[in-house]
Amino acid sequence: MVGVAARERPTRGLSIADVARFATHVVAAWPLAHLGLDAWRGNLTANPIQAVTFRTGDAALTCLVASLVVTPLAVIAGQAWATPSRRPLGLWAFAYASLHLATFAILDYGLDWLLIWQTVVEKRYVLAGAASFAMMVPLALTSTRGWQARLGRSWRHLHRLTYAAGVAAVVHFAWLVKADVREPVAWAIGLAALLALRLPPVRRTLASLVPRASHRKGPLAPPSSRFRLPRTPSGESA
Ligand code: HEM
Repeated sequence: MVGVAARERPTRGLSIADVARFATHVVAAWPLAHLGLDAWRGNLTANPIQAVTFRTGDAALTCLVASLVVTPLAVIAGQAWATPSRRPLGLWAFAYASLHLATFAILDYGLDWLLIWQTVVEKRYVLAGAASFAMMVPLALTSTRGWQARLGRSWRHLHRLTYAAGVAAVVHFAWLVKADVREPVAWAIGLAALLALRLPPVRRTLASLVPRASHRKGPLAPPSSRFRLPRTPSGESA
């Protein structure tokens, strides 16, 4: 999840990558801080459990999709400094999803495993949420540089699961809304666009649309006419 180009640039003191990482943590922590503040002030609506479920679910989905936006944006802009934000965003997505699940299982269902199981198999939206969460677990566990090095090329394949986790989360959202589907539809369109950016013909078209990217100085300049994503520490394109 970490762009090697920006990561490795030696600087005195704080590098721009460190600043990007720190800023990402601050921004990604905001929904949690806001939630804590509202809970402390008793501002969590008449149904606080539902409010926490909604807000942690929204934050999980936002961080997950944001982690997928970083690389294409960096490549299109020819700027590597934001790529170190990918890993923190992915980990915050997992943290919010864990809080979301804990709210559901502990606060809402009082850890009644039988009832939880019945809900998972009966409500298709819960099944989709569980599938998304299950996919996020190996992503979070293998997000360290040690695992990237250990898994080599497989790490890149494994981390494509992020897209599948995003799709399952959007399906989860779409299936749970009762009337107004605008929000899940907007997420679905965004995710479809991100997936489309990975298709080789789309990459080639983009390369021809941003020809100046190949002349840009800096670590993200695509080699010659090829449009490539930045490399991970293990040397793979993310
Ligand atoms: C086992 C895993 C999960 C369970 C049991 C679960 C359960 C729920 C429940 C009960 C709701 C509220 C439904 C309602 O009151 O109408 C909800 C909403 C939501 N969940 Fe999940 N969820 C899971 C995983 C996830 C994951 C992994 C994500 C995102 C990555 C996610 C994102 C959302 C979103 C965006 C909402 C809607 C929030 C809103 O309406 O503002 N959920 N989930």
